[in-house]
Amino acid sequence: MYRARVVKVDPLRPSDKAIEEAAGILRSGGLVAFPTETVYGLGADAFNSEAVLKVFKVKRRPLDNPLIVHVSSLDMLYQVAADISEQVVRALAIAWPGPLTVVLKRRAEVPAVVSGGLDTIAARCPAHPVALKLIEALGRPIAAPSANLAGRPSPTRAEHVIEDLGDGVDLIIDAEETFFGVESTVVDLVSPIPQILRPGPIGPEELEKVFGFRFSLTPYARGFSMYTGTPPSPGMKYRHYAPNKKLVLVEKGLCDTSTYLDFLINTLKTYSKELLALLATRETIEEVSRRLGTSIMYLTLGPRENLFEIARNLYSSLRNLDKLDSVSIAFSEGVEERGVGLAIMNRLRKASSERIVCEVG
Ligand code: TXA
Ligand code: MG
Repeated sequence: MYRARVVKVDPLRPSDKAIEEAAGILRSGGLVAFPTETVYGLGADAFNSEAVLKVFKVKRRPLDNPLIVHVSSLDMLYQVAADISEQVVRALAIAWPGPLTVVLKRRAEVPAVVSGGLDTIAARCPAHPVALKLIEALGRPIAAPSANLAGRPSPTRAEHVIEDLGDGVDLIIDAEETFFGVESTVVDLVSPIPQILRPGPIGPEELEKVFGFRFSLTPYARGFSMYTGTPPSPGMKYRHYAPNKKLVLVEKGLCDTSTYLDFLINTLKTYSKELLALLATRETIEEVSRRLGTSIMYLTLGPRENLFEIARNLYSSLRNLDKLDSVSIAFSEGVEERGVGLAIMNRLRKASSERIVCEVG
């Protein structure tokens, strides 16, 4: 069976040979999966519409869900976007390279297929040596969605890319686990009201500091419900990050920790006849296993106070969940909605098939 070539590189000092090979494949219209600081991306030359179409096909992504274009400098942004204000340039000089994607007006030279036919374009400059060197070697922007099958959790390791897309990619650059583990923050800068379209590693407080104005955050961006009409970002219409198993998200609501733990444990007890899995913070797993024992499969997300570690472990935990064949229902703890916690909750709400909220009293 045909398998993609996998080349291992040092994440901080990738060899020129590997980068040149990858750039050559992109130049001739092929697809390369490469690491960024958030998740692995599935890249194509952004100005080659046939190659970009292949990305949609390999991912089985609906054609109306646009891709992010990756640039290696602010200068390169002008190849894809128009009408960029001074204020935005100043903010990007601070935020880039980094996990922030901006939606701006699209230049007509960029194939419309990249943007799913919209007249806007999403762009970011990734803070990863491999991604930056690859874009520089190609000398043009790379269009790249996350390198997973549509609807699956994004890949944080090369193995995840092989699992999902192995046959459809020409080359996979393996540079170990990605740093943030959740996708970039996406903000809309073309609508009259700037808004967060997808929460990510850069939280609302940091955005306000960098841009000097506030961004609105809708319930859709928090992952509460799926859009049915025409959403501000096509991604909001689609269920995402979903494991194959039934996943119940147990949110903390306004409860304190001890009330929440009692609520979670009582919920788990009502399913005592089934084999359960629990995705939770280290502290919660310690408490639940003390009270309910080892009849549950525990998957640790990280320490409760370290939201970045939880974000980094989230997608591989969701993938591991799917491998636990005997488990019939999985439960997940919710985390605080601050900073990257907003991104974690957005992904968990979209991944879960049911949501229960702890109630006080
Ligand atoms: O961290 C990331 O952003 C990763 C790495 C590879 O850079 N990429 C990524 O791409 O997550 P993707 O395609 O999986 O997600 C792009 C999101 C989608 O929700 C899409 O709907 C939205 O950005 N988007 C893209 N272009 C847009 C546009 N012109 N207007 C509104 N939303 C857009
Ligand atoms: Mg994606």
